[in-house]
Amino acid sequence: MKALVYNGPRDVSVNEVPDATIERATDVLVKITSTNICGSDLHMYEGRTGMAPGRILGHENLGVVIAVGAAVDRIKVGDRVCLPFNIGCGFCANCEKGLTGFCLTVNPGTAGGAYGFAGMGPYSGGQAEFLRVPYGDFNCLVLPRDAEEKENDYVMLSDILPTGYHATELAGVQPGESVVIYGAGPVGLMAACAAAVKGASQVMVVDTHKDRLQLAERLGAIAIDDTEGGGVDMIMELTGGKGADRGCECVGYQCCNMHREEVPNLTMNNLVQTVKATGRIGVVGVFLPEDPGAADTLAKQGRIAFDFGQFWLKGQSMGTGQANVKAYNRQLSRLIEHDKVKPSWIVSHELPLGDAPGAYANFDQRKSGWTKVVLKPGR
Ligand SMILES: NC(=O)c1ccc[n+]([C@@H]2O[C@H](COP(=O)([O-])OP(=O)(O)OC[C@H]3O[C@@H](n4cnc5c(N)ncnc54)[C@H](O)[C@@H]3O)[C@@H](O)[C@H]2O)c1
Ligand SMILES: [Zn+2]
Ligand SMILES: [Zn+2]
Repeated sequence: MKALVYNGPRDVSVNEVPDATIERATDVLVKITSTNICGSDLHMYEGRTGMAPGRILGHENLGVVIAVGAAVDRIKVGDRVCLPFNIGCGFCANCEKGLTGFCLTVNPGTAGGAYGFAGMGPYSGGQAEFLRVPYGDFNCLVLPRDAEEKENDYVMLSDILPTGYHATELAGVQPGESVVIYGAGPVGLMAACAAAVKGASQVMVVDTHKDRLQLAERLGAIAIDDTEGGGVDMIMELTGGKGADRGCECVGYQCCNMHREEVPNLTMNNLVQTVKATGRIGVVGVFLPEDPGAADTLAKQGRIAFDFGQFWLKGQSMGTGQANVKAYNRQLSRLIEHDKVKPSWIVSHELPLGDAPGAYANFDQRKSGWTKVVLKPGR
């Protein structure tokens, strides 16, 4: 089969590789019809993780089931399914509680496994013609009848829509509250969408990319352009000097200052400043336990200089981590089915798999207009 292979920093190619197959009786084999490029892929693409050369990338996958293992009961050949980016077993202590981002079975010794991810198990990604799905009965979300027609909406259930929603859950967003979201990338935009679904009264989205901020405005959010600095002051002014009720971090450890230099503690400390006393912060942007490629020594060790004194004084609280996609994807799929949300508005490019290397380069440079790429391996 053809697949997008990681060769080394900023070097990916579409190669002929051995076909994905059923390896265990609980597996399902999916022919991929849509697979997205994600901001998380860029951490690996840029060589900022321990990703091994030769591995297949791609964790935002949707396709048609073409084979099922002997122990699969629920999933049938021909089902159109969306796969959560995290792989769960369904029976460990964390999966039982809905914390499928922290499955204790699929990546022994660590909590959490995923397709095509550094440090999250040996599983191949889905930027390929076929994908092996472990524990298929548990992991496959069977899509409704309009799945084919709304494929670019449903594929967002694999990661960014549930992840944006998770940011608002971690932050505890309630109807009528104000929310500040750092990052107008795909995840931040989905968090803005989720905050609107939850009835937030004021949604402020901070970024330095005008094309992305315009998308936030299209969602009814207030765009905070931090290109010249001053974003913090704008948020304080908009919230009567108190700060927002809730805050979401949707950028991660590669966050930048207005000169586009990486300052890994910037969004976290801005959140402490711009969320009100007793407010809550949800952090879905990725932070790593070590980052040898970072500019400063603290960050190399996976540490940031966090304004803990202010955080404590303000009585703030915080939730962090991978999104437990399965905890939300079924309900969110109903919002798509009944036309309450339409996450495909974020898609800027729909491309054949062969165009993936160029798409990675453009998305990595955050080129204007490259918001979200959906690859179509079948075409
Ligand atoms: N927790 C999870 O389960 C999960 C799932 C998916 C993605 N992620 C992570 O979420 C983060 C965002 O993903 P994405 O796909 O939207 O990535 P992205 O890189 O496309 O978007 C990040 C955005 O943040 C902006 N930004 C940079 N510095 C900033 C600052 N100081 N203030 C405000 N905005 C700033 C960038 O301009 C960019 O538009 C990444 O770290 C990604 O790995 C986490
Ligand atoms: Zn992703
Ligand atoms: Zn599990």
